Amino acid sequence: MIPLSETTLGDEEAQAAAAVVRSGWLTQGERVATFERAFAAMVGTRHAIAVANCTLALELALEAVGVRAGDEVIIPALTFVATANAVRRLGATPVFADVASEDDLTMCPRDVARKRTERTKAVCPVHYAGWAADVDAIAASAQGAAIVEDCAHAPGATLGARGCGALGAVGAFSFFSNKNMTTGEGGMLTTDDDALATAMRLTRAHGMTTSTLDRHRGHAFTYDVARVGTNARMDEIRAAIGAIQLGKLRAANSHRAACVARYREALASVRGLEIPFSSVTRGTSAHHLFVVLLPEGTDRAKVMAALRERGVQSSIHYPPTHKFSAYESIPANVPVTDRVAGRLLSLPLFATMTDEQVARVCEALVAALG
Ligand SMILES: Cc1ncc(COP(=O)(O)O)c(C=O)c1O
Repeated sequence: MIPLSETTLGDEEAQAAAAVVRSGWLTQGERVATFERAFAAMVGTRHAIAVANCTLALELALEAVGVRAGDEVIIPALTFVATANAVRRLGATPVFADVASEDDLTMCPRDVARKRTERTKAVCPVHYAGWAADVDAIAASAQGAAIVEDCAHAPGATLGARGCGALGAVGAFSFFSNKNMTTGEGGMLTTDDDALATAMRLTRAHGMTTSTLDRHRGHAFTYDVARVGTNARMDEIRAAIGAIQLGKLRAANSHRAACVARYREALASVRGLEIPFSSVTRGTSAHHLFVVLLPEGTDRAKVMAALRERGVQSSIHYPPTHKFSAYESIPANVPVTDRVAGRLLSLPLFATMTDEQVARVCEALVAALG
């Protein structure tokens, strides 16, 4: 079976995790701080704040920029449901924006301008599949509403000279096990804004002004609670694994890019098949996903079953959020998303993928399409 994704975890991560266990200190401490410094340097922000996952990162970021119950946050309809759930968990309302085009599946800046109201507190572009959304145009359309980037697909992606995660007020990353780099569960916030960083650091750990490690070392004996917080901390085991994964990221992303180039070449002449992002020249993608649009009228479930029979896993990124029952009460006017939604298919893409595996997937797809 060729899986949809595979990790790059190896002995180095196992040894790093074992060293943490042997050290006897598992909760947030020096390794988290080291991982944060390295991640901030990679993205190019003053601050990086490690957290338990990207969903909580989005909640913390949106709350820090001032999103409260009754506010609106513009998000793409074509995203993982976590983007919308984070908005709803704060009591705010997600307003769904369309994709830019059938080729550029990131958020449409013109649609953001149309959907901006006086209640819009934040706009949350997603760097879908690893491609930087057109954040500068989206920020112009946002007219002062805070930009919170959902960078779950985009560690190491850039827009010009800037890293994804350094394009708006805050970036939120995921280290879930199918992502370009993983800690199992995990996430990271990035920002250049000192006040936002302080707020998010506090919220991550119950709003407390000193850490357990500070008190353990006798650097502090007590604490204040300066803000209503939660527990969104990352632990030392994950941070140790994350630091190794970060070191592998650049090579992993370029291998992904090479696989995508091979896919594009092999699938270029398949009649009716479209490969999004063909004409997008914005920035360097992290190539988190390789997504195709099946020929119009194709029975996608049948194609997926035929691929499975030939030992190829495939998936759909994503069923658009406004189609889920928990979201159907929220009106969505996203015609291009609705048009492409039934044609989306994600093929295997991972940093250890071989040329032979890419070729086998392409053969299986051509056979499945008949
Ligand atoms: C676009 C997007 N946003 C947010 C998330 C949530 O990430 P996590 O699983 O770390 O909470 C994901 C994860 O799949 C995602 O793909």
